[in-house]
Amino acid sequence: MARRTFILGQTAVTDLPLVPEFRLHLATHVTPLWQATEDSLHRTGLPPPYWAFPWVGGQAVARHVLDHPELVAGRRVLDFAAGCGLITLAAARAGARAVTAVDIDPFALTAIGLNTTLNRDSMPAGAEAIITVSGEDVVGRTLAGVEVVLAGDVCYERPMAESVMRWLRTLAGAGLTVIIGDPGRSYLPRTGLTALARHLVPTLADIEDAEFKATTVWRVEAA
Ligand SMILES: C[S@@+](CC[C@H](N)C(=O)[O-])C[C@H]1O[C@@H](n2cnc3c(N)ncnc32)[C@H](O)[C@@H]1O
Repeated sequence: MARRTFILGQTAVTDLPLVPEFRLHLATHVTPLWQATEDSLHRTGLPPPYWAFPWVGGQAVARHVLDHPELVAGRRVLDFAAGCGLITLAAARAGARAVTAVDIDPFALTAIGLNTTLNRDSMPAGAEAIITVSGEDVVGRTLAGVEVVLAGDVCYERPMAESVMRWLRTLAGAGLTVIIGDPGRSYLPRTGLTALARHLVPTLADIEDAEFKATTVWRVEAA
């Protein structure tokens, strides 16, 4: 089945209380995508539908960027592990010069396209055109031309958290602004981060163990 058809059939357009500027195609209680697809996606070797949820780290970073547009205005931004693309939309609305949404899951890239179209009217004229998506695995690479890296919820698995955080610190050392959102996941480093803001973030689906998660927006410092 085409990815676009699958996503539209398995999600509903959903409001976000913490980020009311946007609506997204998301799994809801009436579209129990996680449970429904866990078996079939697992059988076919596809990753779980992370793109169907606005993770609390991503919501917190999106809120922060919208509240502090100077962080991205006029700058070239990379939304690493973009998922549904909420941070990408926030950066575009806040006046970034260009935004690249990167995710290794092709479903995420399709979802980001659908969410961008859905929110076309919530962004400045022409903002849709500054958004590009990429499925390349950029971890470990230098990012020519990128000035700001934003990432929501990337410390949920040990190997990924270790390699991603090492890379983000290197980028910070090279002069990029690097900001992550995280609710205190197990593999978040306890040092080398500066808290910028804290939000009580509503969770919209049954994937967290609470209705709200206190989530911190961190600046990643150089090693
Ligand atoms: C927990 S979700 C967070 C999504 C989004 N940032 C948010 O906060 O809603 C993690 C995402 O990381 C992506 N991912 C995992 N490894 C990656 C890699 N090496 N490069 C890019 N994306 C990756 C997954 O496909 C998934 O969409």
